[in-house]
Amino acid sequence: MFSKALLVASFLLLSPVAAVPCIGFDINWGLYVFGLAQDYSLGPSSNWNQNPLQGGVLTTTGRPPFNGPNTSCYLSQYSNALYVLNADTTQPSNMHIYSFETQSWTTQQLDGAGTDPNSLTAILDRNTNVFFALSNSKLYSLDMGTLAQSDGTTRPWVAVQDPPFAANNAYPKPVMALAENHIHFLNTGTPAKVNIFVIHFSYTQPEPQFFGPLEVGGSGFPSTTGQTASIFKDITTPQQKFAFVPDDGTNTYIFDVLANTTQAIAGPTVKSTSRLAASQRELVQMTSSGELWWIPLNPDDAQPNYSATWSKINFAVNTPTANPSGSGNGNTNGSASSSQTSTRTGVANSPSSNSSVPNSASHAHGSLGLLSTGLLTLGLGFCGLWSIL
Ligand SMILES: *[C@@H]1O[C@H](CO)[C@@H](O)[C@H](O)[C@H]1NC(C)=O
Ligand SMILES: *[C@@H]1O[C@H](CO)[C@@H](O)[C@H](O)[C@H]1NC(C)=O
Ligand SMILES: *[C@@H]1O[C@H](CO)[C@@H](O)[C@H](O)[C@H]1NC(C)=O
Ligand SMILES: *[C@@H]1O[C@H](CO)[C@@H](O)[C@H](O)[C@H]1NC(C)=O
Ligand SMILES: *[C@@H]1O[C@H](CO)[C@@H](O)[C@H](O)[C@H]1NC(C)=O
Repeated sequence: MFSKALLVASFLLLSPVAAVPCIGFDINWGLYVFGLAQDYSLGPSSNWNQNPLQGGVLTTTGRPPFNGPNTSCYLSQYSNALYVLNADTTQPSNMHIYSFETQSWTTQQLDGAGTDPNSLTAILDRNTNVFFALSNSKLYSLDMGTLAQSDGTTRPWVAVQDPPFAANNAYPKPVMALAENHIHFLNTGTPAKVNIFVIHFSYTQPEPQFFGPLEVGGSGFPSTTGQTASIFKDITTPQQKFAFVPDDGTNTYIFDVLANTTQAIAGPTVKSTSRLAASQRELVQMTSSGELWWIPLNPDDAQPNYSATWSKINFAVNTPTANPSGSGNGNTNGSASSSQTSTRTGVANSPSSNSSVPNSASHAHGSLGLLSTGLLTLGLGFCGLWSIL
């Protein structure tokens, strides 16, 4: 149907930059997908075995175009909001905030203060709601206060320190993960070891921390690039575990930062991971071709669940009617869910507790199904699509 040449031509013409969508959770552990042709609410994991799973369509008002080269999304657990970095190439240093509570977008002006938005790697500290980012070997912070929407000010990134292990560009491909208010830096050159920045003391530990594999004869996690996700606890407790999926996808590593161990459970079925997100009990993968898969987690069990397996979420992408380029700003607000969700207020009635079901034409969401949702998504799937053509 599509030749490679046509795909390449379309890609080059319409999507000069490969956009990266996001997945994220609200504080009731409803799952969301941001940055496809539209944004969708998929509800809690009890919904995910529906086939197809129909997503509620979120508002496009104030939504960023999700055309940045390295968009990243973070749940602010206290604010029940999603903070989105680098989602608009016309303002890469600004932040877009989606309030799960009011289901609306605002834009927060930021002062980049020397950070490079296209290459910075960031985590959001849960307890303080402060971002930390490594950019060009320097660690920066950004205080988000209690914002669930923009406060109209310009918030600055502030230089914190030059971590010794990252000096002289010795750490060019940072992989960062948050747990127990410590930033864990993976991919530092030594398998099974991380460097640690202790947020509350603004202190880089001089020696790397060893994470011992629970598996007898196991070799510990590899020092490579990959994706991470903090595994949330309840509202009173910081994350104490995080997941790491290395780029080769051979295993999923669950780090326990109290015991300083790793558990190597099943690697994703589809190896190419573009994004990970975790709730309390689920780890969700977005593949580079836009598929969603998940695996159950048990945050209270110190034992690895070696029998846990990855399942595909067969979610239905609704074809936008008015905006075939899929830029997301075309007021494609035709679905039943827009009015339905806009009347909801309060956490208990957020879409996560009952994912709304729009009725417009939809089709099962497969790799090729993405193609018809808008050519922008070609950018998303470009690398992954090669593998299926
Ligand atoms: C969405 O639809 C509602 C109801 O028709 C309308 O009030 C609202 O302005 C629309 N929003 C956008 C962004 O078009
Ligand atoms: C995007 O960020 C990741 C780290 O999260 C980094 O490894 C990668 O190089 C970045 N990509 C671009 C295009 O800057
Ligand atoms: C785990 O590592 C942290 C950070 O280095 C350290 O503070 C803690 O004492 C370690 N815990 C154990 C049980 O060794
Ligand atoms: C382990 O995973 C299996 C398979 O997904 C699941 O049925 C089981 O409930 C999990 N056990 C725990 C303790 O989470
Ligand atoms: C979700 O809302 C629909 C329509 O209001 C209702 O029929 C259904 O029972 C609700 N489901 C849940 C799980 O609350």
